[in-house]
Amino acid sequence: MLSREEIQQTAESIAVQYSTIELSIAIRDVMVRERNVSLTIVGVKEGELSALEGALRQSLSEAGAETVHFRFRAGEPTASSQSASNASNVGSGTAKSSSAASAASAGQGPVRGHGAGMEAHPLLHAGSGVHFIAVASGKGGVGKSTVTVNLAVALARKGKRVGIIDADIYGFSVPDMMGIEDKPEVINERVIPIEKFGVRVMSMGFFVEDNAPIVWRGPMLGKMLRNFFAEIEWGELDYLLLDLPPGTGDVALDVHQLIPQSKEIIVTTPHATAAFVAARAGAMAIKTEHEIIGIVENMSYFASKSGEIEYVFGRGGGARLAESLHSELLAQIPLGAPDNLATEPDFAPSVYKAETETGQIYLQIADRVIAKCEG
Ligand SMILES: Nc1ncnc2c1ncn2[C@@H]1O[C@H](COP(=O)(O)OP(=O)(O)O)[C@@H](O)[C@H]1O
Ligand SMILES: [Mg+2]
Repeated sequence: MLSREEIQQTAESIAVQYSTIELSIAIRDVMVRERNVSLTIVGVKEGELSALEGALRQSLSEAGAETVHFRFRAGEPTASSQSASNASNVGSGTAKSSSAASAASAGQGPVRGHGAGMEAHPLLHAGSGVHFIAVASGKGGVGKSTVTVNLAVALARKGKRVGIIDADIYGFSVPDMMGIEDKPEVINERVIPIEKFGVRVMSMGFFVEDNAPIVWRGPMLGKMLRNFFAEIEWGELDYLLLDLPPGTGDVALDVHQLIPQSKEIIVTTPHATAAFVAARAGAMAIKTEHEIIGIVENMSYFASKSGEIEYVFGRGGGARLAESLHSELLAQIPLGAPDNLATEPDFAPSVYKAETETGQIYLQIADRVIAKCEG
């Protein structure tokens, strides 16, 4: 097995050799699948420095890579040049700081990750007042996106200014779930999130062609998260919810780096196995020192019309998970899709109406979240 760190180090040692004072080359987004390596060369255009490309290919294949794929990207501006360029963009519609200037500033000193230079962003800086909540799960299909969407809508129903970042790059589903069919507009090089039910939504699904090969999505992810802050016109927000990919991969680390103050909600089903894998996501949250607001147990039971309750997927997973993570069980949500009609205005397949039983449960979760974040 090739390790990502090893490939990163090998590639960086080559990049350094080709860097000069005017040209600082960085290696980012290294991804290793079996013996296939892909990475982004920052600061150089394709074909511009073929000696570098050749040297990289050679040393990576010596390190054991079978295939090597490069992406190329202009250098990234530093925090100060970035805020300056953002300021100059307002109203004037001018281009970002010249790529030459940013290439010169990128990658100096130790290579930093995707959070580099973002600390000063108006939403991200420590005193911004925005509450970030990453919604995580151990595995897919437990209702993480459903919970994200409905908690966001419930917070908006409580009068909060709310945004969602659909960061589940492998299975973005938020636009579909909310019944969003439009693509976002770009004004003055800033992307305007789509607003529905009072929630501003940004999703990778707006930008990725449906059948883009999934293997290239991973390396794009950190950059995507970064861009979701740098290039999106969020306006003022009280809450920003992130629908994370299932599991405990790189994205969790990217989130941690970009938003160290983020809190987390962990979604599980009541089944013991689901709760067990969810515990890993919880362990990751603890490792990155993200406060776990609580656990949402989804698909907890089925209530028949006659009032009988059946525990279709078992019992107790959420409570046990809450206990093992020293957190609280925020809610148990029953099985049952919203019975919205495709013909009604503002149709959304996965948003429970406020007056329904499940809609009420989400409003209670929102109250608890508000109390924990603002109380
Ligand atoms: N409480 C629930 N009752 C019935 N179906 C649900 C419930 N929660 C989620 N679902 C459905 O289960 C599937 C998986 O949910 P989703 O939110 O996409 O999970 P994840 O984001 O964890 O993969 C979706 O089809 C969703 O509509
Ligand atoms: Mg999902």
